Amino acid sequence: MNMHKIAYSVFIAFVASLLTLVSVSALSSSERDAADDEGLDPITLGELAEHDAAESCWKAIHGRVYDITDYVSNHPTDPAVILEWCGREATEGWDNKRPGVPHSARAEGMLEAYLVGRLVDEAGEPVEPEAAARSDEARNGEAADEPALLSPAEDERLHRALLGLPLDGRYRGVFGDGGEMQVNVQFDLRDGRLSNVSYRHLAYRGVDYRTLDDDEDLYPVWVQHQQLAEALEDQPLTAIFALYEPERLAEDLDGYSGATLRGNKVHSAFRDALNRGVYSWP
Ligand code: HEM
Repeated sequence: MNMHKIAYSVFIAFVASLLTLVSVSALSSSERDAADDEGLDPITLGELAEHDAAESCWKAIHGRVYDITDYVSNHPTDPAVILEWCGREATEGWDNKRPGVPHSARAEGMLEAYLVGRLVDEAGEPVEPEAAARSDEARNGEAADEPALLSPAEDERLHRALLGLPLDGRYRGVFGDGGEMQVNVQFDLRDGRLSNVSYRHLAYRGVDYRTLDDDEDLYPVWVQHQQLAEALEDQPLTAIFALYEPERLAEDLDGYSGATLRGNKVHSAFRDALNRGVYSWP
């Protein structure tokens, strides 16, 4: 055999082993035959929902149920990222650890050790992930007949994709327009939740809202902005998208102040703060 033939055979062997690897991983959970699961304990969505916390965290992924309680503290992210999916159909989170990016084959292999059963409906039939996610929502009181398209203010997956996983710490950010700084916010992030939300500055056309007396016309606007800050307290970071609909967070004191409430400016100042990164460590 000359050198060319040897090199060619080595190349073919390499390609063949690659193809084997690819087809083995393609045969993973998503391609599994339902008959493989018949010996597993049937677990209903109701039973799954009882294990929705760090003390006992079960997840349904591609039709199987896993008790990952012991794994939570080993997961390479902030625990909140994976605790959010306890007690639920979690295929969507599993297949999108980052939007569009599934877990690795190594992670897939780890799941096996936590397997406790297969997901079934009340009649004992296997449940498709999409159907399970829908009835999960219905169980949580979300209307099953909600429009298929969420508004940008409500799409949690979009929010997570936009915000990423910012570090814990104190943040400061501003919104300015027409040469004037109008909003300067400060807040703390702890485990992805907001606290100590305050305004270091809030002004429009030269009026400093923070110094208004309670008998002044614009005073209600200041009160409403404080209500926005209070409404965000102890909420997950994605709650800042609710600022696009400030009337849901603050009481409409009167028509005038309602029209002057500028949740989108406050939102913009939050996003500026996140872009700048941590201002000081907790
Ligand atoms: C369903 C909820 C889950 C979500 C939302 C989630 C999310 C994430 C994220 C954001 C990362 C890090 C980012 C990255 O690698 O690019 C990650 C990595 C990882 N996760 Fe999860 N995870 C979940 C469940 C699990 C479970 C149940 C296990 C194992 C039993 C697991 C095992 C791993 C491993 C080993 C990595 C390292 C990267 C990889 O191998 O893909 N995750 N996950």
